[in-house]
Amino acid sequence: EGSMSRAAALQSALTKERRDIRTQEQRGMVDAIPKDLNRSWEDPISSGRYLMQELMGTGLSAQSVPEWKMTYGKAGTYGQKSRLSIQEQRQSLPIFRLKKELISAVNDNQVLVVIGETGSGKTTQVTQYLAEAGYTTRGKIACTQPRRVAAESIAKRVAEEVGCRVGEEVGYSIRFDDCTGPETVIKYMTDGMLLREILVDGDLSSYSVVMLDEAHERTIYTDILFSLLKQLIKRRNDLKLIVTSATLDAEKFSGYFFDCNIFTIPGRTFPVEILHTKQAESDYMDAALITVLQIHLTEPEGDILLFLTGQEEIDHACERLHERMKAFGGDIPELIICPVYSALPTEVQSKIFEPAPPCKRKVVVATNIAEASITIDGIYYVVDPGFAKLNVYNPKLGLDSLVITPISQASAKQRAGRAGRTGPGKCYRLYTESAFRNEMPPTTIPEIQRANLGWTVLNMKAMGINDLLSFDFMDPPASQALISAMEQLYSLGALDEEGLLTRLGRKMAEFPQEPPLSKMLLASVDLGCSDEILTIIAMIQTGNIFYRPREKQAQADRKRSNFFQPEGDHLTLLTVYEAWKAKGFSGPWCVENFIQVNSLRRAQDVRKQLLEIMDKFKLNVISAGNNSTKIGKALTAGFFFHAARKDPSDGYRTLADHQQVYIHPSSALFHQQPQWVIYHEIVMTTKEYMRDVTAVDPRWLLELAPRSYKSVDPTKISKRKRQERIEPLYDRYNEPNSWRLINSCCRLSS
Ligand code: CDP
Ligand code: MG
Repeated sequence: EGSMSRAAALQSALTKERRDIRTQEQRGMVDAIPKDLNRSWEDPISSGRYLMQELMGTGLSAQSVPEWKMTYGKAGTYGQKSRLSIQEQRQSLPIFRLKKELISAVNDNQVLVVIGETGSGKTTQVTQYLAEAGYTTRGKIACTQPRRVAAESIAKRVAEEVGCRVGEEVGYSIRFDDCTGPETVIKYMTDGMLLREILVDGDLSSYSVVMLDEAHERTIYTDILFSLLKQLIKRRNDLKLIVTSATLDAEKFSGYFFDCNIFTIPGRTFPVEILHTKQAESDYMDAALITVLQIHLTEPEGDILLFLTGQEEIDHACERLHERMKAFGGDIPELIICPVYSALPTEVQSKIFEPAPPCKRKVVVATNIAEASITIDGIYYVVDPGFAKLNVYNPKLGLDSLVITPISQASAKQRAGRAGRTGPGKCYRLYTESAFRNEMPPTTIPEIQRANLGWTVLNMKAMGINDLLSFDFMDPPASQALISAMEQLYSLGALDEEGLLTRLGRKMAEFPQEPPLSKMLLASVDLGCSDEILTIIAMIQTGNIFYRPREKQAQADRKRSNFFQPEGDHLTLLTVYEAWKAKGFSGPWCVENFIQVNSLRRAQDVRKQLLEIMDKFKLNVISAGNNSTKIGKALTAGFFFHAARKDPSDGYRTLADHQQVYIHPSSALFHQQPQWVIYHEIVMTTKEYMRDVTAVDPRWLLELAPRSYKSVDPTKISKRKRQERIEPLYDRYNEPNSWRLINSCCRLSS
C-alpha cells in the first residue's frame, strides 16, 4: 500500500513538473519545421525511467493514476478520419483546392517540381487528378517510390479511392511482385522497377506521365532516373515529368531540370513542441520504450510514432512493449502496437492506417519509411532516437553494409513534423540539442555517394551507358566508387578488359539482385545445382529466418541447431526451406521450429520470380542431389571476394584486405571454425561478424575466380610479394592502377 501511494505521488509530481515546464514555454511552441530549438528536455527520461521501475515493482493499476484517466478518451479531433467517407477524406486534403491549378500547370509545363508537406496528398491524388484530366488516354501514369512497402500500400489506398481492385486500373510493380494488368493506367512502382523498364524500352513509350515521387530521398535509382528522364523528355515532347520533393531540395531539382517551374502546395500543419534530452542517452532503445510508455500513461489522447532502424529492433521493441503492457495488468488503457518495416506482410501493414478505437492508443513502431513515404493520421507524439540504418559502402571491406547512422537535421525536422498533422503535437528527441546542431549533418548524403555501385554500373552498362564518369549525375559519385564497382564486375566476369559488358554480364543484368548473386545463379546452371542455388538466393534475400524470443532463447537455439549443416549456413538455409516444403509449407511447423513464416513465404515468392526469369532465358533448373561440392563451387563463383582464412591467433582475415573478421555466433560454423570460408555479408555489432558463412576448398577460388586469385609457391611468398599489385590491364580513364585487382595470394597445401 505504501509503495503504491509513493508511485502515485511520483506520478503526480512528474505530471506537475511537466506542466510547469509547459506553462513557462508553451506560448513559444516551435513550428513543425523549427528554426530555433532552444529547449532542453530535462526530466522526463530520467524520472520516467524511475516511474517505470516503480510501476513495474508495485503492479500499479489504473485507479492509482487518476491524472491521465481524466484526459484520456476525450473526444477531440482524434479519430475524426474514421468518420469521414473516403471521398470526404480526399476532399479534405490540402491539394484538393489546387486541383485545377495543378492540372493546368502540368498541361503548360513539360517538367514540374511539386513540393508540399507530407500528407498533403501528392502521392495519392496527383495521379488520380491527371487520370481524370485525360492523361491516361495517351498512356499510363507511373509514380515511383523509393520503398516497396510504400508502392504497395499506396496502390491499395488509391485503388480503394478509385473504387477498383489493385491490379485493375490501379496497380503496383515492385521487385518480385508485379500486380498490374492490361487495364492498369495508374502504376505505382519502385524507382528500381522503372529503371528496369527503361532498360527494356528506353523511350518509356507506354507512359504519358512519369512522377518521380519522394525525390528528396535520393536513392541511386531515382538519381539515375533523373538523368535518363532529363534526356528522354528532349526526345519525347509528349511525356510529362513531375518531380515531387520536400521543400529543401526544390530549387536544386528545378535547377537541374532546366530551371523548370515549382508548384507549391501550402502546408496544413500544427505546431510541434520539440523536446531534447539534456544528456546523451546511452541506450536509445531503452530510452525509447520508456518514453513511449510514459506518453501512454501521462499524455492525453493521440497516437505515438516511434522511429527505429530496422526489423530486428522493431520486433524487439514491440515484444518488450507487449511484455510491459501485460505486466501493468488490464486496467491500463490498451496500447495497440503496430510494427512497420518492409518485410512485413501486407495484412499487418494495413492495420497501421486503421484509427485506434476510442480509449485506446496506437503506437506505430516504424523504420524510416514513416518519415515521408507513408503518412499515418492521428499521430500526436513522435519519439525520435535520431538513428537510421543506411546502406553504406565500406571501401576497406569492399562491400556494402547496413550501418546504423545518426540521421540528418533535415530528417529530424521531417520526423518531428509527423506529429503535427492532426493537431498540435510533440516530438521527443532522444538526443541533445547540441547533438542536433553539431553532430548531425544538415542533409543526408545521396545514396549514390555512399553505396556500392555494382548493380547500378551493371545496369547502366546494359543500357548502353558506357562512359560512366561523364554521366550527367545530379551529384556524381566518387570516381573511385565507380571504378571499384567496375573492378568487381570485371572479376565476376560481367565486364571485359575494356570495361564493356560481356555476354555473362548481359545475363546478369536480367536479374533484379546484386551482381554476385546473379553470378552465383548463372554459375550454378553450368555446375548443375541451380535448383538449390535458387532456394539459397531466395532465402538469403528475405531477412531473418529464425526467430529468437527473449524468454525462450535456449529453446530456439536448440531448434535452430537441428537444421545446421556441416558445410555451413547456406546449406542450413536450404535445409530449412526443404524441410518446410516437405511439411507442405506449413505455418504451425514454423512456429514449432522458431522460424519466421513470413520470411519463408517471401523466400517462396522470390524463388518463384527468379524461376520465371530463368524460364524466360531458358536457363536449366537442375538439382545437385547430394553433391554439396557443386553448391560450394557455385557459392564461390559469386562470393569469392568475400573469402576469409582462419587467423591462427584470432578469428579470420579477409583475403581481399586482411581485415580481422569473426564468424557470427548464430552461424552453423561457429564451433567448427574451418580454415577457409566465404561469407555473404559483414555485420558490424560488437565485432565485425561474417554472416551466412560456408566452408570452402581454396582450390575452388583458383578455379572459379582466376581473375582474382593466383596460386603461389608457399616457400617463396614474402610479405612484399603479398602486397604487390597486379598491373592494370587496361587504363581507360588514365587513373593509375584503376584496374587494381583484388590482391590475394592463395597458398595451397598441395
Ligand atoms: O504524398 P503526400 O505525403 O503528400 O500524401 P499522401 O501519401 O498522398 O497521403 C494523403 C492522405 O492519404 C494521408 O492523409 C494519408 O494518411 C492517406 N493514406 C491512407 O489513408 N492510406 C494509405 N495507404 C496511404 C495514404
Ligand atoms: Mg508522398
